[in-house]
Amino acid sequence: MKAVVYTKYGPPEVLQLKEVQKPTPKENEVLIKIHATTVNRTDCGFRKPEYPIIIRPIHGLIKPKKTILGSELAGEIEAIGKDVKSFKPGDKVFGLSTYNFGAHAEYICLPETGSITTVPVNMSYDEAAAVCDGLFLAMNLIRKIDFTNKPEILVNGATGSIGSACLQLAKHYGAKKITAVCNTQNFELVKSLGADDVIDYTKEDFTNNGQLYDVVLDAVGKSSFFRCRKLLKPNGVYLSTELGYLMQNIFLALITPIIGGKRVKFPIPKDSKEDVVLFKELIEAGHYKAVIDRIYPLEKIIEAVKYVETGQKIGNVVISLGDNE
Ligand SMILES: NC(=O)c1ccc[n+]([C@@H]2O[C@H](COP(=O)([O-])OP(=O)(O)OC[C@H]3O[C@@H](n4cnc5c(N)ncnc54)[C@H](OP(=O)(O)O)[C@@H]3O)[C@@H](O)[C@H]2O)c1
Repeated sequence: MKAVVYTKYGPPEVLQLKEVQKPTPKENEVLIKIHATTVNRTDCGFRKPEYPIIIRPIHGLIKPKKTILGSELAGEIEAIGKDVKSFKPGDKVFGLSTYNFGAHAEYICLPETGSITTVPVNMSYDEAAAVCDGLFLAMNLIRKIDFTNKPEILVNGATGSIGSACLQLAKHYGAKKITAVCNTQNFELVKSLGADDVIDYTKEDFTNNGQLYDVVLDAVGKSSFFRCRKLLKPNGVYLSTELGYLMQNIFLALITPIIGGKRVKFPIPKDSKEDVVLFKELIEAGHYKAVIDRIYPLEKIIEAVKYVETGQKIGNVVISLGDNE
């Protein structure tokens, strides 16, 4: 089968399209023929690697242990192991292989109990692959927000994969008012995803807007708790997708709850089958839609990676491997 392989950390050019052995499912696994995957910031972060102090000990000190990246996918089950009960050949599935990766390939084996379920009836393979990573990371953040009193939320980086997912989830779970920070050209998009108010970050520093929020959620990690503190109500919460300068968000998440008042929350993301099933329900009920910027073939993955690393994609970048029903 074709796969995009990398055997050393480095720039996008370390990725090579190669012929590798097609995997065979173990007793508890399904073999999926991948129709669509994505290039996301998680793949890029593990390839460089970003935060080497964290990634190298887990993913390989000198060279990567897992040589095929790709953490989200949609495709069709081609074969199953002898103990698999809940899937059959021909099932269309989507989901995550978050820290095991392996989706930048024509086939992948995943455990039956992994973060996969059947594709939402109202989505193509491209759309189904595009929703998983952003939605899973956004869900981890959104779960840290108390929606009982209908909070007012500001989302910085509202047009990214995680930001666009946060807008939709915040709307669905009942935020009173959502303010999106993005570029003027994306005002209509963020409004269609649930934003009530919009700030253009190219014209205005959102930290000086004089408003107060229950939650400031920085989905692109371009701010800090110290800059955003003045925007928070007395018991307000600051959430970020990035560790921050000197990994401050981890320390602040430990210290600020002890001090009381305004606090930082920094959830460590973990995916599950239950979440992917929930995503399917949200999508089929019309509460969530895919945001796709560009679609590339597998052969153009380096081009796709370079585009993702501009930090300017709108939503998600899909790699399409063929039939996209
Ligand atoms: N915690 C984790 O486990 C984890 C996992 C994956 C990713 N991440 C991090 O999460 C962040 C977001 O990931 P993502 O995939 O959602 O990002 P993304 O899709 O690459 O975000 C790009 C978007 O951010 C917008 N943007 C760029 N600079 C901005 C700024 N200064 N203010 C407001 N918007 C800005 C861009 O808009 P314009 O085109 O208008 O510039 C673009 O639409 C990244 O920093 C990534 O490293 C964390």
